[in-house]
Amino acid sequence: MKISVPAETAENETRVAIVPETVQRLARDGHAVAVGAGAGASAGFSDADYSDAGATIANDLADLFSGVNVVLKVNDPTAEEIAALPANAVVAGQFRALTNGELLGQLAGAGVTTVSMELIPRIARAQRLDVLSSQASLAGYKSVLIGANSIGRFFPLMMTAAGTIPPSNVLILGAGVAGLQAIATAKRLGAIVHAYDVRAAVREQVESLGGKFVELEEEENLETEGGYAKEQTDDAQQRQRAQLGEHVADADVVITTAQIPGKPAPLLVTADAVQKMRTGSVIVDLAGETGGNCELSEPGKTITAHGVEIHAPLNVPALMPAEASVLYSRNLAGLLELLVDDEGNLKVDFEDEVIAGATVTHGGSLVGQVANGA
Ligand code: NAI
Repeated sequence: MKISVPAETAENETRVAIVPETVQRLARDGHAVAVGAGAGASAGFSDADYSDAGATIANDLADLFSGVNVVLKVNDPTAEEIAALPANAVVAGQFRALTNGELLGQLAGAGVTTVSMELIPRIARAQRLDVLSSQASLAGYKSVLIGANSIGRFFPLMMTAAGTIPPSNVLILGAGVAGLQAIATAKRLGAIVHAYDVRAAVREQVESLGGKFVELEEEENLETEGGYAKEQTDDAQQRQRAQLGEHVADADVVITTAQIPGKPAPLLVTADAVQKMRTGSVIVDLAGETGGNCELSEPGKTITAHGVEIHAPLNVPALMPAEASVLYSRNLAGLLELLVDDEGNLKVDFEDEVIAGATVTHGGSLVGQVANGA
């Protein structure tokens, strides 16, 4: 099978879909891997690293995509890439398929099979392919470092000859994959960590990492059968924000990670709550891609309001390009194992629930979760 990896072109993207470690494994399994010249440069992998691992380096798209079976991407393919894709090839990446109809139309029109990695079902067998988890975990870690770097205080309790400095208080709102990693990271740095989530099951996970779970009154468990959060009613949201305000005011660093799949991020930190925070406190809003959890966040920017520094970084995994690419590349290697038959040829097996769940175009049409324009 020929597997090709173009360089990413999106602004601020530093990751690459495949790293030399994975190329080596694929080459050992008998696959031909072609990598666009310079594709790994911003993640710290040179063309020589790829050719040493067994890849060929392609200088133009025609060369890269000639006879290709599977194209691996991080972000959306460009119009030029779509035009160069051979019909019947598979293209895999994080395409935000549920809200990216225009791209899916173009990919269906090109006759390719599209696998959108964020739709990989979160079942035990597919954990190795779970790009949401691998990338969110990095973002959770990095968010704490951004917070720690931005406050003019220590995270841990410090006993010095000049007296004792108390530890910082860190509040994490939303304790899914990113939030739990943020709790673990802030604990390792010695902060006092409180965390809150609308899913009741999270309490135990927060406590097992050494965090204290924030209890709000009159709460309903908002966990769906799939393990995600449901949207709250307007009333419940208002009650939640009012109660969270007190905890926000006590925190030196607030990290927000709350998301509801396919919906705008819930508003958790109001402008009023920011105003009540101490000067010099910091908010790191990881929900910027879907509008942000803080009313004052400006996605993609760092601003200061009421003396509080508010970060709403976009594409946080791209701030750690080497590790993010290594993990993403391993996720894709897991997918490739499901896309080959015993002879090493490409197969797209819709009997496999992982492939069926994440495949969104095939044979010229939209299929699976997006088939009815969902
Ligand atoms: P996510 O990125 O969709 O949301 C992040 C967190 O925000 C979630 O914990 C959610 O409950 C919380 N949230 C939403 N609205 C909120 C609000 N108003 N206030 C406070 N918190 C709010 O979630 P993520 O990180 O992708 O995880 C979702 C679920 O998937 C979890 O149950 C996780 O354990 C599960 N999961 C399962 C895996 C598997 O079985 N292979 C792998 C990874 C995660």
